[in-house]
Amino acid sequence: MTLVLEQSWSPDGAPQSKGGMFRLTIHNHGPAPIHPHALCLSSMTRIASDTGMEGARLDRRFGNFHRLIAPKDLLIAAGGVWVIRIMDLTHEPKNRSQGIMAAWLETDTGEIPILTGDLEPPPGAPREALAALPEGRIEQPLGLLPWPQQVEISEWAAPRGLAFSADLAEIAALHQRLFPFARSVLSRDGRPVTCQRAALPPEGYALDFTPERITLTHADAAGRRHGLIALAQISHAALTDPRFREPLRGRISDHPRFAWRGMHMDVARNFRTIDEVRRAVDILAWHRMNRFHWHLTDDEGWRIEIPALPALTGIGARRGTGLPLLPQYADPSSGQAGHYSMAEARALVAHAASLGIEVLPEIDMPGHLTSLLAAIPGLTDPDEVPDSYRSIQGYPNNAVNPAMPAVYEVLGTVLDTVCEIFPSRLVHLGGDEVDPRSWQQSPAAMRLAEAEGIAGEGVTHRLQALFMRRMHQMLKARGRELAGWDECADGGGVSPEGTLLFAWRSVEKTAELMRAGYDVIATPGQAYYMDMTASDSWDAIGLSWAGTATVEKTYGFEPAEGLPEDASGRLIGIQAGVWSEMLSSRARWNAMVFPRLSAVAESAWTEPAAKDWLRFVALSPLMPQL
Ligand code: ACM
Repeated sequence: MTLVLEQSWSPDGAPQSKGGMFRLTIHNHGPAPIHPHALCLSSMTRIASDTGMEGARLDRRFGNFHRLIAPKDLLIAAGGVWVIRIMDLTHEPKNRSQGIMAAWLETDTGEIPILTGDLEPPPGAPREALAALPEGRIEQPLGLLPWPQQVEISEWAAPRGLAFSADLAEIAALHQRLFPFARSVLSRDGRPVTCQRAALPPEGYALDFTPERITLTHADAAGRRHGLIALAQISHAALTDPRFREPLRGRISDHPRFAWRGMHMDVARNFRTIDEVRRAVDILAWHRMNRFHWHLTDDEGWRIEIPALPALTGIGARRGTGLPLLPQYADPSSGQAGHYSMAEARALVAHAASLGIEVLPEIDMPGHLTSLLAAIPGLTDPDEVPDSYRSIQGYPNNAVNPAMPAVYEVLGTVLDTVCEIFPSRLVHLGGDEVDPRSWQQSPAAMRLAEAEGIAGEGVTHRLQALFMRRMHQMLKARGRELAGWDECADGGGVSPEGTLLFAWRSVEKTAELMRAGYDVIATPGQAYYMDMTASDSWDAIGLSWAGTATVEKTYGFEPAEGLPEDASGRLIGIQAGVWSEMLSSRARWNAMVFPRLSAVAESAWTEPAAKDWLRFVALSPLMPQL
């Protein structure tokens, strides 16, 4: 690439500026002058307006995509530069990753990509070192994560592995998929494992070690699988890392703290192939997690085939220049595309089930639906003022309109297919981040509000609740129940009966929802969102709207602290949120998700008294990555 974008941020913009100033310098290192019409870019810190902008004019914003028009007759000479100052940003960037992620020039002869550097800090700003994890500490040579509730081992031995048996075949195959370079945990000299059933807590297991054999006692099929995975983990650690051993004599007894031990995975913002999703599910199994929340749709992409509505993936699963959905995040001008066929999704569900993991599909509504609106006409009010509201992610009018009958027909068709693919009792229908101005410029929506007696202050929330209640009924008609983000309790809310809500906006939401009678999964962005930066350093990557989620904070967060005892709702479990705006590659996925996913897994499984931060630091590098 001969074009290079140098970008820097300064807190001092024009007096009217909200977020300070970006200074962009596009260097032409090529041999010929370039005459661009426009600069296209995706930036996590968005440009609010071209107030005070110098060197270009803002033509279009769509999510994180921006098109800036070049001054007439601009020529970037060979060796020359184009300098742009942008004054009105939506917020202050906090690190090098929150600026422009991709850029290209539009010219007469086509688009020219630009190598995009990190966002530079203000001149002279201190560059703190990245917060490294402390040196870990292990008191027992046991390579097991999540840590079990009770460990009483009297003697340790060099690794022998486990004897071949039908019981262990499935778990040994899981181990081989996760660690293709590791020695097999099964060996000719391995110790035999005998399985037996007994009354133990749900999903519980116990391992009794003697030099001759290992006895696995289990409560149920899940407990049996957890015990076998624990054995495979112990042997894997001992076979691959000299710090670890196998127990020779003694007992491990164990059961999970929470029934719901989940990971949410956003495949809309940045697509991950079905093979990667399958591997993510394998990783969950190795962590003894048991729920996979598959975030299949969002403004930026519709990722699941709905055969009766082929445009949903034909149009809604593709981003690119000239398409209804424009390139976002680190996309090149050609964008990205991808979706799962029904057959692929079904196979994934079966694969997860074989590992004791239930798949919770999410179709996010009524907001976050730009991809659906781009694909299917008739789901908004034709008389609504265009661009009369923008979502927090910068999408104009991105909610389906609760007053349009076609909305329920189309979403009913979507639910039919979703229920065909996914057998889970719950279907997650989102409900998050509907802009508070949504539908207020829609005459049809306002007529509906009048007719329902919910017009006036808070009308958007009340219309949303009306919509979610209707969708809940549509789920019930299909034999399913509603899962949703915490906003499903706003504006009058949905019925708590059969419903599961995911508390994400704050740590306090869990208690609030429980007091309102809901069963709750705690997934606060402040601790459990894996896209949050893990360090305050400018040199870190990740978002920061919920603050900084250091590994230690994520590990140490106690989800049950401060919960009401007299509430009718219950804390069912906890979940990691893997939002993918920043996760444009597998390498980034791994860098952001680990070891924090392992920290959530241990908090979901292990009672607080048995947790140990330094032990976690020592053990977490043993865990597999995507
Ligand atoms: C969310 O993070 N919008 C649920």
